[in-house]
Amino acid sequence: MTTAARTYEFLSIEKKDQVAIVTISRPEKLNALNHALLSELDGALDTLRADASVRVLVLTGAGEKAFVAGADIGELSVLDTRGAEAASSFGSRVFRKLETGPQTVIAAVNGFALGGGCELALACHIRYASEAARFGLPEVGLGIVPGYGGTQRLPRLVGLGIASELIATGRMIDAAEALRIGLVNRVVAPAALLEEALATAQKIAANAPLAVAAALEAARRGLDLDIDQGLRLESTLFGILGSTKDMHDGLSAFVEKRKPTFEGH
Ligand code: COA
Repeated sequence: MTTAARTYEFLSIEKKDQVAIVTISRPEKLNALNHALLSELDGALDTLRADASVRVLVLTGAGEKAFVAGADIGELSVLDTRGAEAASSFGSRVFRKLETGPQTVIAAVNGFALGGGCELALACHIRYASEAARFGLPEVGLGIVPGYGGTQRLPRLVGLGIASELIATGRMIDAAEALRIGLVNRVVAPAALLEEALATAQKIAANAPLAVAAALEAARRGLDLDIDQGLRLESTLFGILGSTKDMHDGLSAFVEKRKPTFEGH
């Protein structure tokens, strides 16, 4: 069964050429991430990873109001120490799968991206926000900490000082401020959000998929390495691509003044 043909309770997946639009769909609860939803996302990512016809994912939320308003607070409220740690680890693992998968992921943030929703956007490679988007990590106001990677990814993205303020106050910020601090790449009118995300997705999908994945891997892992280790990683990945058909076709297409055909191997 193809990815698009599978049915989910809390997700819908639509394929447009080589792009899959993954919509998180629990609108009556502002798309809050309960365990069942996270499990579906986990399974869908496994299926999408294995689908070589999908080169880019666009992740968005159903309804007018929310991208994702966080982890499901009702579920969290009954957890003990062991359960809380397991819940955090599970969500973190799903988001890490998204971040380290073979496809580039663009978050199209259409509304509230709070707590786990903000963390989900942070785990994506590129973030576009509608003018109606709102971001925040309100966890400390609930007596918890961001548990799906927020304490790690936000400082890496916007710097420790700004991240510390946002995490410690739990303050919600609008799309314009998110753009100013580098939390999002672009802010667009609500009606244009998906179209803009798709246009970028198509551009990425036209490039050599293994090269895109390797370049993003080098950039991401390089943040945790010193410069010499990072440069070595870059050269290693460059070397690995040397054995791909796509690299040979990409380079010879330029020389022969034709368009390359990238097949992902
Ligand atoms: N977990 C569970 N349910 C949630 C939720 C969450 N994170 N966020 C929203 N919901 C539910 C609400 O309980 C409500 O359900 P109900 O209609 O059965 O009562 C429904 O979604 C609509 O939310 P509501 O609060 O009525 O909308 P609003 O427009 O008044 O406020 C928010 C919107 C986003 C400001 C508010 O819902 C909110 O603060 N949510 C929690 C955000 C948060 O702290 N996230 C981090 C969690 S770790």
